[in-house]
Amino acid sequence: MHFELTDEQKMIRQAARDFAQTELKPGVIERDEHQKFPAEQIKKLGELGFLGMMVSPQYGGAGLDAISYVLVMEELSKIDASTSVVVSVNNSLVCYGLEKYANEEQKQKYLVPLASGQQIGAFCLSEPEAGSDATSQRTTAIDMGDHYLLNGTKNWITNGSTASTYIVFAQTDIEKKHHGINAFIVEKGLPGFTIGPKENKMGVRGSDTHSLMFTDVKVPKENRIGEDGFGFKFAMNLLEGGRIGIASQALGIASGAYELAVQYAKDRKAFGKSLADHQAIQFKLADMATEIEAARLMCFKAAWLKDHGKPYAQASSMAKLYASEVAMRTTTEAVQIHGGYGYVKEYHVERLMRDAKITQIYEGTSEIQRIVISRGVLK
Ligand code: CAA
Ligand code: FAD
Repeated sequence: MHFELTDEQKMIRQAARDFAQTELKPGVIERDEHQKFPAEQIKKLGELGFLGMMVSPQYGGAGLDAISYVLVMEELSKIDASTSVVVSVNNSLVCYGLEKYANEEQKQKYLVPLASGQQIGAFCLSEPEAGSDATSQRTTAIDMGDHYLLNGTKNWITNGSTASTYIVFAQTDIEKKHHGINAFIVEKGLPGFTIGPKENKMGVRGSDTHSLMFTDVKVPKENRIGEDGFGFKFAMNLLEGGRIGIASQALGIASGAYELAVQYAKDRKAFGKSLADHQAIQFKLADMATEIEAARLMCFKAAWLKDHGKPYAQASSMAKLYASEVAMRTTTEAVQIHGGYGYVKEYHVERLMRDAKITQIYEGTSEIQRIVISRGVLK
């Protein structure tokens, strides 16, 4: 068992850390306040290879391992979780799925621009009446011979208006329940495809979340991914890797808040000494550091399993469950350590606290992670 990163992994972490400081930190408060999508920053991340990190260079990716992905997600999320969720969705829920399951023609047409950062992708599973209960989705894709006719609504779609390529899940045979679900590549701009208004969110406000409406959208037959009926297993498989991304995002939000709290505790004086000299504050920092370290190891373990071709569904759900709860606890304590200053925007920790909350909800709520984990435990 090795606990050392390779030189390449350290270099990638440093590149992400530098990028977060120089490109993400300036303007992060304004982007959050005005719900401004980090378009420039995403373009630059694409140029650095961070939008198709684990995709083979043959398809425009950086050919890196999942450990490097965890490192990058942590560093970006310390500063700006609105940007890191775009990175996570594009890498884990779109590029990974296309590389693993799309055919050669689909890869050339869709994966190459997505992995090289020329375009952004979206993953469209949730619906107004079906989020956690994903098999109950109602969007339909009726086989019309040379195309499918897509009808329905998807909800809460990250990159909803900024994406060019959408992976959309729909029922081709509702009688077959989840065995009748298929995944389709849908291009923006097809007649009948409309994008709802931007959601006004508590956190990750710079990211772009929309409902998508499909009314008699003609999706070419060749845009179905995999065999007929493969869609639900495809979605579940992608979420296994996606949850490593969101676990690492939660880890980054926690470690970003922790680093700010340590610095503030050293700088701020109360009762004639620095906050850091009060044992009550020291113990809070000790608990934060311990939990963050545990969350980081869980993210690495899940990534290592993925990199080594071993089953990782349980490990990624555990990492996501734990890291998201740590993010919530750590950011709440970081605000507490900052006192009144923590409650205003200039000190960053209130944003990190708002951003932490979503990590317990998207890509499967904490309750859903417990369902996945307990099924594994009891199997
Ligand atoms: N890999 C492959 N197949 C899997 C699988 C996996 N990890 N997990 C389940 N399956 C298969 C099962 O084997 C089963 O197939 P068979 O009947 O052929 O055996 C089928 O999927 C249905 O499985 P279940 O019976 O376990 O289904 P369920 O209705 O009990 O629910 C669930 C399973 C785990 C709760 C699932 O519905 C789920 O994960 N829900 C949460 C949805 C979610 O995470 N959404 C995230 C949207 S994306 C997002 O949020 C992005 C973002 O924020 C940025
Ligand atoms: P519900 O499923 O209605 O759950 C409500 C509550 O009930 C939760 O606490 C839940 O844990 C609990 N609950 C439900 N079932 C059970 C059960 N069996 N046992 C115990 N408790 C249960 N989706 C996408 O497809 N693509 C995206 O890009 C995407 N991005 C998102 C971005 C944001 C900002 C947000 C807010 C959501 C996003 N989602 C996306 C949707 C997200 O995945 C869902 O919100 C999430 O899966 C929960 O579904 P729901 O909101 O319908 O809640």
